[in-house]
Amino acid sequence: MTMRKAVYPGTFDPFTRGHLDVVEQAAPLFDELIVSVLHNPNKRPWFDVETRMALIRDAVSGIGNVHVDSFEGLLVDYYQRKSFVCVVRGVRNDLDLQAELAMAHVNRSLAEDVRVVFIPTSPVFGFVSSSLVKDVAMHGGDVSQFVTPRVAEALLAHVSR
Ligand code: PNS
Repeated sequence: MTMRKAVYPGTFDPFTRGHLDVVEQAAPLFDELIVSVLHNPNKRPWFDVETRMALIRDAVSGIGNVHVDSFEGLLVDYYQRKSFVCVVRGVRNDLDLQAELAMAHVNRSLAEDVRVVFIPTSPVFGFVSSSLVKDVAMHGGDVSQFVTPRVAEALLAHVSR
């Protein structure tokens, strides 16, 4: 039997409890779920790819069929190279949905065999984003309700450099 491997791609700068919620909902749907960090040299992330991967590994360590990877370039190329059966993306609200539909359509136009599944985030995470979390951290706020303890530590370390 072939393994049904799905990819959950993102910037994850950093991984939040909202992302974790998506992973927890998606993981049981596939044999394996790969959370994959986009290496994008044009963006100026707070955390390098290795650090982001380590923080995700820590957050998902309790879920057996979830693994962490990274990719560069087009998602569809990575998708085909790794024989994924599905792309997973979390959707918080209608704005997300619009943007996600555009991405899904572009990806389907580039590669017809790409399948996309949208996971609605739990309402309690509907407003959590990596950028808002960084903003709270930058101004000395408590981020513990938005991110895992390791990510909170990493954010604190980053702002107190
Ligand atoms: O966490 P993000 O920033 O919302 O994730 C966006 C991501 C990484 C899924 C998207 O930007 C992406 O797939 N980038 C890779 C380049 C690519 O394939 N672009 C065309 C897709 S529209």
